[in-house]
Amino acid sequence: MESPGIVARIIEQHRVRPGALLPMLHAIQDALGHIPPEAVPPIAQALNLSRAEVHGVISYYAHFRQQPAGRHVVRICCAEACQAVGGEALAEHARERLAGSGITLEPVYCLGLCACGPSVQVDEIMLHARVTPEKFDALIDVLEAAP
Ligand code: FES
Repeated sequence: MESPGIVARIIEQHRVRPGALLPMLHAIQDALGHIPPEAVPPIAQALNLSRAEVHGVISYYAHFRQQPAGRHVVRICCAEACQAVGGEALAEHARERLAGSGITLEPVYCLGLCACGPSVQVDEIMLHARVTPEKFDALIDVLEAAP
């Protein structure tokens, strides 16, 4: 089924639930990997919200992706404990390293490794602690070398 059909089905499944917007957005992202811009008008109409309100919620939560992800998704913790031990510099390094790489870089707010930051998650499964720029580059080298 193509994405308009998937979006329409998810809207119908969730529209009568109280607080339907967030579950609806999660379900769309789970199904499609992101929330396409064309999903916003039917969501707004179904929930009697403005498009700006729906877009505002999508933009507010770092979890929601508005474009399809690259072949890998790398998340860097931007929460306080990791920021205090070099997370911001690591994120800057990562932005430069991943520019044009086809790997998606996203912020995340705590990965549960606060005592050993900066923390990084690769493809929602692999967690890495105490990530230096050098360690980050080694991780990316492995991802890029994989078939
Ligand atoms: S603050 Fe970064 S893992 Fe918790």
